Amino acid sequence: MDPRPVPVPAGILRAGAPRHVAIVMDGNGRWAKRRGLARTEGHGAGEEALLDVTYGALAAGVKVLTVYAFSTENWRRPVDEVRYLMNFNQGILERHRDSLHEDGVRITFSGRRDRRVPKRVLASMDAAAHLTAKNRRMTLNIAFNYGGRAEIVDAVSRLIADGVPAHKVDERAIRGRLYHPELADPDVVVRTSGEHRISNFLLWQIAYSELIFSEVLWPDYRREDLYRDIEEFQGRDRRFGGVDQ
Ligand code: IPE
Ligand code: IPE
Ligand code: MG
Repeated sequence: MDPRPVPVPAGILRAGAPRHVAIVMDGNGRWAKRRGLARTEGHGAGEEALLDVTYGALAAGVKVLTVYAFSTENWRRPVDEVRYLMNFNQGILERHRDSLHEDGVRITFSGRRDRRVPKRVLASMDAAAHLTAKNRRMTLNIAFNYGGRAEIVDAVSRLIADGVPAHKVDERAIRGRLYHPELADPDVVVRTSGEHRISNFLLWQIAYSELIFSEVLWPDYRREDLYRDIEEFQGRDRRFGGVDQ
């Protein structure tokens, strides 16, 4: 159940929420540092942000929320931080999967299942995905051990494994082999914490996404921030390479 129901702004209700919102949840370390805390405390504080934003997106009518939780480059962090993040992500799934399930949220994952991800973490991911597989209100797609380049490499590798001949390789053939081809491309990507980069997030899918950079650090980000960013998105003029009529 929504722990903090907040009215959805009328403008969003009127115009309709974007179908797919993708978020780079960044700034946990800086949030902690400002408070004289360990970086891991910043990650921990991000849990409330994730929950609030997920329920806020659900209330607004967003159909897909993709969140970047751990990148293929995040293995470069100190081992203690990596271990914390593995346990933390497992914990989030175990703490929230039942209530998300009751509220009609399907949980999916994008990323590589390589040997560095502990088996117990993979088991929690599988359990959450299995439990919620039939839900249709919203998909919460968690990008975990995810890299946009790795996703394209994996798609090309599958193309070859499927024996697709060169003249049959087109965008559809590649897209169909991404981790979740059934999810429409993000309409908008939000990155928190004032960093202006993509950091290997959804490279294929963001070809025509609107990009919004928020100054708010992820642990402070709440659905009100999401709603403000959605309203900014709604003021954008998307042309997809064409011209306004
Ligand atoms: C984002 O916060 C969380 C992950 C990348 C897992 P950071 O840990 O990158 O926080 P900053 O960027 O150092 O502040
Ligand atoms: C991107 O943030 C990855 C996640 C939020 C999971 P990073 O903090 O890892 O990105 P860089 O290193 O600043 O580019
Ligand atoms: Mg960061």
